[in-house]
Amino acid sequence: MTATPQRKGILVTGGAGYIGSHTVLQLRERGERVVVLDDLSTGFRQAVLDAPLVVGDVADTALVARVLREHDVDTVLHFAAALSVPESVRDPLKYYGNNTAGTRALLAACTAHGVSQFVFSSTAAVYGIPDGGRASEEHPTRPINPYGRSKLVTEWMLRDVEAATSAGSGAAALRHVALRYFNVAGAEGTGRIGQSRRDAFHLVHVAAEHVAGKRDHVAIFGTDYPTPDGTAVRDYLHVEDLARAHLDALDYLRRGGASTTLNVGYGHGYSVREVLAAVERASGKPLTLREGPRRAGDPPELVSEASAIRRVLGWQPQRDDLDLIVRSAIEWERKLPGIGWR
Ligand code: UFG
Repeated sequence: MTATPQRKGILVTGGAGYIGSHTVLQLRERGERVVVLDDLSTGFRQAVLDAPLVVGDVADTALVARVLREHDVDTVLHFAAALSVPESVRDPLKYYGNNTAGTRALLAACTAHGVSQFVFSSTAAVYGIPDGGRASEEHPTRPINPYGRSKLVTEWMLRDVEAATSAGSGAAALRHVALRYFNVAGAEGTGRIGQSRRDAFHLVHVAAEHVAGKRDHVAIFGTDYPTPDGTAVRDYLHVEDLARAHLDALDYLRRGGASTTLNVGYGHGYSVREVLAAVERASGKPLTLREGPRRAGDPPELVSEASAIRRVLGWQPQRDDLDLIVRSAIEWERKLPGIGWR
Protein backbone atom coordinates (compact mmCIF):
# COMPACT_ATOMS: atom_id res chain seq x y z
CA MET A 1 0.00 0.00 0.00
CA THR A 2 1.37 3.45 -0.88
CA ALA A 3 1.17 6.14 1.77
CA THR A 4 -1.16 9.10 1.08
CA PRO A 5 0.99 12.18 0.53
CA GLN A 6 0.76 14.64 3.42
CA ARG A 7 -1.53 17.49 2.41
CA LYS A 8 -0.47 21.09 2.82
CA GLY A 9 -2.03 23.21 5.56
CA ILE A 10 -5.17 25.32 5.19
CA LEU A 11 -5.45 28.64 7.03
CA VAL A 12 -9.04 29.53 7.95
CA THR A 13 -9.36 33.16 9.01
CA GLY A 14 -12.48 33.83 11.05
CA GLY A 15 -12.70 30.09 11.70
CA ALA A 16 -14.18 30.70 15.18
CA GLY A 17 -17.12 32.55 13.63
CA TYR A 18 -20.42 31.20 12.41
CA ILE A 19 -19.75 30.13 8.81
CA GLY A 20 -16.02 29.66 9.37
CA SER A 21 -16.54 27.19 12.22
CA HIS A 22 -18.99 25.10 10.18
CA THR A 23 -16.42 24.94 7.39
CA VAL A 24 -13.60 24.02 9.80
CA LEU A 25 -15.74 21.17 11.12
CA GLN A 26 -16.31 19.76 7.62
CA LEU A 27 -12.65 20.17 6.65
CA ARG A 28 -11.52 18.32 9.76
CA GLU A 29 -14.11 15.58 9.27
CA ARG A 30 -12.47 14.73 5.98
CA GLY A 31 -8.97 14.84 7.41
CA GLU A 32 -7.66 18.20 6.18
CA ARG A 33 -4.87 19.98 8.08
CA VAL A 34 -6.42 23.20 9.34
CA VAL A 35 -5.22 26.14 11.39
CA VAL A 36 -7.64 28.86 12.48
CA LEU A 37 -6.73 32.53 12.84
CA ASP A 38 -9.39 34.54 14.65
CA ASP A 39 -9.26 37.65 16.84
CA LEU A 40 -12.30 36.39 18.81
CA SER A 41 -13.96 39.81 18.47
CA THR A 42 -17.19 38.07 17.47
CA GLY A 43 -16.11 34.43 17.27
CA PHE A 44 -15.88 31.87 20.08
CA ARG A 45 -12.91 29.79 21.14
CA GLN A 46 -15.23 26.81 21.66
CA ALA A 47 -16.50 26.98 18.07
CA VAL A 48 -13.27 25.59 16.62
CA LEU A 49 -13.69 22.44 18.79
CA ASP A 50 -10.23 20.83 18.84
CA ALA A 51 -8.76 22.56 15.76
CA PRO A 52 -5.56 24.56 16.31
CA LEU A 53 -6.43 28.20 16.99
CA VAL A 54 -4.16 31.24 16.75
CA VAL A 55 -5.72 34.32 18.32
CA GLY A 56 -4.82 37.39 16.30
CA ASP A 57 -5.59 39.78 13.49
CA VAL A 58 -5.38 39.05 9.76
CA ALA A 59 -3.70 42.45 9.33
CA ASP A 60 -0.80 41.38 11.57
CA THR A 61 1.45 40.45 8.68
CA ALA A 62 4.26 39.12 10.85
CA LEU A 63 1.86 36.82 12.71
CA VAL A 64 0.23 35.61 9.49
CA ALA A 65 3.67 34.98 7.94
CA ARG A 66 4.61 32.85 10.93
CA VAL A 67 1.37 30.84 10.78
CA LEU A 68 1.73 30.27 7.02
CA ARG A 69 5.29 29.05 7.50
CA GLU A 70 4.76 26.91 10.59
CA HIS A 71 1.67 25.18 9.17
CA ASP A 72 3.03 24.86 5.63
CA VAL A 73 -0.05 26.60 4.23
CA ASP A 74 -0.83 26.69 0.50
CA THR A 75 -4.56 27.58 0.81
CA VAL A 76 -6.37 30.33 2.69
CA LEU A 77 -10.11 30.37 3.36
CA HIS A 78 -10.81 33.96 4.34
CA PHE A 79 -13.96 34.43 6.43
CA ALA A 80 -12.76 37.06 8.94
CA ALA A 81 -14.80 40.22 8.37
CA ALA A 82 -17.25 42.65 9.88
CA LEU A 83 -20.69 41.89 8.45
CA SER A 84 -23.49 44.13 9.63
CA VAL A 85 -24.98 46.30 6.90
CA PRO A 86 -26.48 48.91 9.29
CA GLU A 87 -23.22 49.13 11.24
CA SER A 88 -21.32 49.64 7.98
CA VAL A 89 -23.49 52.68 7.24
CA ARG A 90 -22.73 54.14 10.69
CA ASP A 91 -19.04 53.24 10.73
CA PRO A 92 -17.78 52.78 7.15
CA LEU A 93 -14.09 53.03 8.06
CA LYS A 94 -14.43 49.94 10.27
CA TYR A 95 -15.59 48.05 7.16
CA TYR A 96 -12.95 49.41 4.80
CA GLY A 97 -10.44 48.72 7.57
CA ASN A 98 -11.41 45.20 8.66
CA ASN A 99 -12.63 43.95 5.31
CA THR A 100 -10.69 45.75 2.60
CA ALA A 101 -7.45 46.84 4.28
CA GLY A 102 -7.39 43.67 6.41
CA THR A 103 -7.58 41.51 3.29
CA ARG A 104 -4.91 43.62 1.58
CA ALA A 105 -2.53 42.90 4.47
CA LEU A 106 -3.45 39.21 4.42
CA LEU A 107 -2.82 39.02 0.67
CA ALA A 108 0.57 40.67 1.09
CA ALA A 109 1.56 37.89 3.50
CA CYS A 110 0.05 35.25 1.18
CA THR A 111 1.95 36.41 -1.90
CA ALA A 112 5.19 36.71 0.07
CA HIS A 113 4.75 33.15 1.33
CA GLY A 114 3.70 31.64 -2.03
CA VAL A 115 0.11 30.74 -1.06
CA SER A 116 -1.47 29.58 -4.31
CA GLN A 117 -5.19 29.14 -3.47
CA PHE A 118 -7.60 31.56 -1.83
CA VAL A 119 -11.33 31.20 -1.11
CA PHE A 120 -13.00 34.50 -0.28
CA SER A 121 -16.28 35.14 1.55
CA SER A 122 -18.00 37.71 -0.61
CA THR A 123 -21.65 38.67 -0.46
CA ALA A 124 -24.82 39.17 -2.45
CA ALA A 125 -24.65 42.74 -1.14
CA VAL A 126 -22.28 43.50 -4.05
CA TYR A 127 -25.34 43.53 -6.35
CA GLY A 128 -27.28 46.22 -4.48
CA ILE A 129 -30.84 46.21 -5.81
CA PRO A 130 -30.77 43.79 -8.74
CA ASP A 131 -33.13 44.20 -11.67
CA GLY A 132 -36.15 41.95 -11.10
CA GLY A 133 -34.82 40.88 -7.70
CA ARG A 134 -32.54 38.18 -9.15
CA ALA A 135 -28.82 38.31 -9.73
CA SER A 136 -26.53 36.10 -11.78
CA GLU A 137 -22.79 36.55 -11.47
CA GLU A 138 -22.89 38.70 -14.63
CA HIS A 139 -25.36 41.15 -13.12
CA PRO A 140 -23.82 44.62 -12.65
CA THR A 141 -22.38 45.17 -9.19
CA ARG A 142 -23.89 48.30 -7.65
CA PRO A 143 -23.60 47.90 -3.87
CA ILE A 144 -25.79 50.27 -1.86
CA ASN A 145 -23.89 50.18 1.43
CA PRO A 146 -20.27 50.30 2.68
CA TYR A 147 -20.39 46.60 3.63
CA GLY A 148 -21.08 45.57 0.03
CA ARG A 149 -18.51 48.03 -1.30
CA SER A 150 -15.83 46.83 1.14
CA LYS A 151 -16.30 43.27 -0.20
CA LEU A 152 -16.50 44.29 -3.85
CA VAL A 153 -13.19 46.15 -3.63
CA THR A 154 -11.70 42.96 -2.21
CA GLU A 155 -12.99 40.96 -5.19
CA TRP A 156 -11.24 43.47 -7.48
CA MET A 157 -8.06 43.23 -5.43
CA LEU A 158 -8.05 39.44 -5.77
CA ARG A 159 -8.40 39.67 -9.55
CA ASP A 160 -5.59 42.21 -9.77
CA VAL A 161 -3.32 40.12 -7.56
CA GLU A 162 -3.99 37.05 -9.65
CA ALA A 163 -3.25 38.90 -12.88
CA ALA A 164 0.01 40.23 -11.45
CA THR A 165 1.14 36.93 -9.95
CA SER A 166 0.29 34.84 -13.01
CA ALA A 167 2.08 37.39 -15.22
CA GLY A 168 5.26 36.49 -13.36
CA SER A 169 5.67 39.26 -10.81
CA GLY A 170 8.00 36.95 -8.94
CA ALA A 171 5.38 35.55 -6.56
CA ALA A 172 3.59 32.22 -7.20
CA ALA A 173 0.25 32.59 -9.01
CA LEU A 174 -2.57 33.09 -6.53
CA ARG A 175 -5.86 31.65 -7.86
CA HIS A 176 -9.10 32.31 -6.03
CA VAL A 177 -12.77 31.49 -5.74
CA ALA A 178 -14.95 34.36 -4.48
CA LEU A 179 -18.25 33.07 -3.10
CA ARG A 180 -21.10 35.57 -3.00
CA TYR A 181 -23.29 34.35 -0.13
CA PHE A 182 -27.00 34.97 -0.07
CA ASN A 183 -28.84 34.65 3.29
CA VAL A 184 -27.21 32.02 5.44
CA ALA A 185 -29.03 30.56 8.46
CA GLY A 186 -29.36 27.41 10.58
CA ALA A 187 -26.85 25.23 12.40
CA GLU A 188 -25.16 21.86 11.91
CA GLY A 189 -27.11 18.87 13.12
CA THR A 190 -25.08 17.54 16.05
CA GLY A 191 -25.61 20.58 18.29
CA ARG A 192 -21.92 21.33 18.74
CA ILE A 193 -21.77 24.67 16.93
CA GLY A 194 -24.13 27.33 15.62
CA GLN A 195 -24.68 31.04 15.33
CA SER A 196 -24.15 33.31 18.30
CA ARG A 197 -23.62 37.01 18.74
CA ARG A 198 -24.57 39.52 21.37
CA ASP A 199 -26.25 41.77 18.79
CA ALA A 200 -28.23 39.33 16.61
CA PHE A 201 -29.83 41.09 13.65
CA HIS A 202 -30.44 38.43 10.99
CA LEU A 203 -34.08 37.44 10.61
CA VAL A 204 -33.83 33.70 11.37
CA HIS A 205 -31.44 34.31 14.26
CA VAL A 206 -33.69 37.00 15.76
CA ALA A 207 -36.76 34.78 15.41
CA ALA A 208 -34.93 31.84 17.01
CA GLU A 209 -33.92 34.07 19.93
CA HIS A 210 -37.57 35.05 20.34
CA VAL A 211 -38.66 31.40 20.39
CA ALA A 212 -35.97 30.68 22.98
CA GLY A 213 -37.32 33.49 25.19
CA LYS A 214 -34.46 35.96 24.68
CA ARG A 215 -36.61 38.68 23.13
CA ASP A 216 -40.26 39.54 23.48
CA HIS A 217 -41.12 40.05 19.81
CA VAL A 218 -39.90 39.95 16.22
CA ALA A 219 -40.12 43.15 14.17
CA ILE A 220 -41.14 42.93 10.53
CA PHE A 221 -39.19 45.63 8.69
CA GLY A 222 -41.55 46.79 5.96
CA THR A 223 -44.93 45.47 4.84
CA ASP A 224 -45.33 47.65 1.74
CA TYR A 225 -42.76 46.10 -0.59
CA PRO A 226 -43.84 45.23 -4.14
CA THR A 227 -43.80 41.51 -3.30
CA PRO A 228 -46.71 39.03 -3.05
CA ASP A 229 -47.26 39.59 0.71
CA GLY A 230 -45.62 43.01 1.01
CA THR A 231 -42.54 41.79 2.93
CA ALA A 232 -39.00 41.47 1.58
CA VAL A 233 -37.86 38.31 -0.19
CA ARG A 234 -34.47 36.59 0.30
CA ASP A 235 -32.74 33.36 -0.73
CA TYR A 236 -32.20 31.51 2.60
CA LEU A 237 -29.39 28.98 2.60
CA HIS A 238 -28.45 26.33 5.18
CA VAL A 239 -25.03 26.98 6.70
CA GLU A 240 -23.93 23.37 6.14
CA ASP A 241 -24.56 23.68 2.40
CA LEU A 242 -22.65 26.96 2.40
CA ALA A 243 -19.74 25.37 4.28
CA ARG A 244 -19.74 22.54 1.76
CA ALA A 245 -19.39 25.07 -1.08
CA HIS A 246 -16.01 26.04 0.42
CA LEU A 247 -14.80 22.44 0.33
CA ASP A 248 -15.98 22.19 -3.27
CA ALA A 249 -14.12 25.44 -4.06
CA LEU A 250 -10.99 24.02 -2.47
CA ASP A 251 -11.25 20.82 -4.54
CA TYR A 252 -11.82 22.90 -7.67
CA LEU A 253 -8.69 24.96 -7.05
CA ARG A 254 -6.71 21.80 -6.32
CA ARG A 255 -7.83 20.43 -9.71
CA GLY A 256 -6.25 23.53 -11.25
CA GLY A 257 -9.51 25.45 -11.76
CA ALA A 258 -9.28 29.05 -12.94
CA SER A 259 -10.21 31.92 -10.63
CA THR A 260 -13.93 32.51 -10.52
CA THR A 261 -16.72 34.34 -8.70
CA LEU A 262 -19.88 32.41 -7.86
CA ASN A 263 -23.21 32.96 -6.14
CA VAL A 264 -24.08 30.61 -3.29
CA GLY A 265 -27.84 30.35 -2.93
CA TYR A 266 -30.65 27.96 -3.75
CA GLY A 267 -32.15 30.16 -6.46
CA HIS A 268 -35.56 30.71 -4.86
CA GLY A 269 -36.78 33.12 -2.26
CA TYR A 270 -39.06 33.39 0.77
CA SER A 271 -40.67 36.49 2.20
CA VAL A 272 -40.20 37.61 5.80
CA ARG A 273 -43.73 36.40 6.56
CA GLU A 274 -43.01 32.99 5.02
CA VAL A 275 -39.88 32.63 7.15
CA LEU A 276 -41.78 33.61 10.29
CA ALA A 277 -44.55 31.13 9.43
CA ALA A 278 -41.90 28.40 9.19
CA VAL A 279 -40.58 29.46 12.61
CA GLU A 280 -44.11 29.16 14.03
CA ARG A 281 -44.47 25.67 12.51
CA ALA A 282 -41.13 24.62 14.01
CA SER A 283 -41.79 26.05 17.45
CA GLY A 284 -45.44 25.01 17.60
CA LYS A 285 -46.60 28.35 18.97
CA PRO A 286 -47.48 31.76 17.57
CA LEU A 287 -44.81 34.45 17.52
CA THR A 288 -45.33 37.97 18.80
CA LEU A 289 -44.84 40.09 15.69
CA ARG A 290 -44.63 43.88 15.32
CA GLU A 291 -45.00 45.38 11.90
CA GLY A 292 -42.78 48.40 11.37
CA PRO A 293 -41.23 50.55 8.65
CA ARG A 294 -38.68 49.35 6.13
CA ARG A 295 -35.07 49.06 7.33
CA ALA A 296 -32.76 51.50 5.53
CA GLY A 297 -30.69 49.94 2.77
CA ASP A 298 -32.79 46.77 2.33
CA PRO A 299 -33.54 45.66 -1.24
CA PRO A 300 -37.13 44.43 -1.77
CA GLU A 301 -36.01 41.13 -3.26
CA LEU A 302 -32.60 39.46 -3.52
CA VAL A 303 -32.51 35.95 -4.95
CA SER A 304 -29.63 34.15 -6.65
CA GLU A 305 -29.31 32.79 -10.13
CA ALA A 306 -27.69 29.68 -8.76
CA SER A 307 -26.76 27.40 -11.63
CA ALA A 308 -23.11 28.42 -12.12
CA ILE A 309 -21.83 27.03 -8.81
CA ARG A 310 -23.42 23.65 -9.53
CA ARG A 311 -21.85 23.56 -12.98
CA VAL A 312 -18.40 24.93 -12.08
CA LEU A 313 -17.80 23.43 -8.63
CA GLY A 314 -20.22 20.49 -8.76
CA TRP A 315 -21.91 21.86 -5.61
CA GLN A 316 -24.90 19.72 -4.62
CA PRO A 317 -26.88 21.29 -1.78
CA GLN A 318 -28.51 18.80 0.60
CA ARG A 319 -30.56 21.07 2.85
CA ASP A 320 -32.71 23.23 0.61
CA ASP A 321 -35.60 23.14 3.07
CA LEU A 322 -36.77 26.24 4.96
CA ASP A 323 -38.38 24.17 7.74
CA LEU A 324 -35.13 22.32 8.35
CA ILE A 325 -33.15 25.57 8.36
CA VAL A 326 -35.32 27.27 10.96
CA ARG A 327 -35.68 24.10 13.05
CA SER A 328 -31.91 23.76 13.30
CA ALA A 329 -31.58 27.44 14.26
CA ILE A 330 -34.17 27.06 17.03
CA GLU A 331 -32.67 23.84 18.37
CA TRP A 332 -29.27 25.51 18.58
CA GLU A 333 -30.67 28.64 20.24
CA ARG A 334 -32.41 26.55 22.90
CA LYS A 335 -29.19 24.70 23.59
CA LEU A 336 -26.90 27.74 23.68
CA PRO A 337 -27.46 28.84 27.32
CA GLY A 338 -26.28 25.46 28.57
CA ILE A 339 -23.09 25.51 26.53
CA GLY A 340 -21.41 28.52 28.14
CA TRP A 341 -19.84 30.05 25.04
CA ARG A 342 -17.71 33.03 26.02
N1 UFG B 1 -35.83 41.46 8.90
C1 UFG B 1 -36.96 41.72 9.65
N2 UFG B 1 -36.85 41.70 11.01
C2 UFG B 1 -35.67 41.44 11.65
C3 UFG B 1 -34.53 41.17 10.86
C4 UFG B 1 -34.65 41.20 9.49
O1 UFG B 1 -38.05 41.97 9.11
O2 UFG B 1 -35.63 41.45 12.88
C5 UFG B 1 -35.96 41.46 7.44
C6 UFG B 1 -35.00 42.43 6.78
O3 UFG B 1 -35.55 43.71 6.71
C7 UFG B 1 -34.83 41.77 5.41
C8 UFG B 1 -34.93 40.27 5.71
O4 UFG B 1 -35.60 40.19 6.97
O5 UFG B 1 -35.85 42.13 4.56
C9 UFG B 1 -33.58 39.60 5.84
O6 UFG B 1 -32.78 40.38 6.70
P1 UFG B 1 -31.43 39.84 7.34
O7 UFG B 1 -30.92 40.89 8.27
O8 UFG B 1 -31.64 38.47 7.89
O9 UFG B 1 -30.48 39.67 6.09
P2 UFG B 1 -30.11 40.72 4.93
O10 UFG B 1 -30.84 40.28 3.72
O11 UFG B 1 -30.28 42.12 5.36
O12 UFG B 1 -28.56 40.51 4.87
C10 UFG B 1 -27.99 39.46 4.16
C11 UFG B 1 -26.59 39.18 4.70
C12 UFG B 1 -25.71 40.35 4.48
C13 UFG B 1 -25.76 40.75 3.04
C14 UFG B 1 -27.17 40.98 2.59
C15 UFG B 1 -27.27 41.29 1.15
O13 UFG B 1 -26.65 38.89 6.06
O14 UFG B 1 -24.40 39.99 4.83
O15 UFG B 1 -27.92 39.82 2.83
O16 UFG B 1 -28.46 42.04 0.97
F1 UFG B 1 -25.08 41.89 2.86
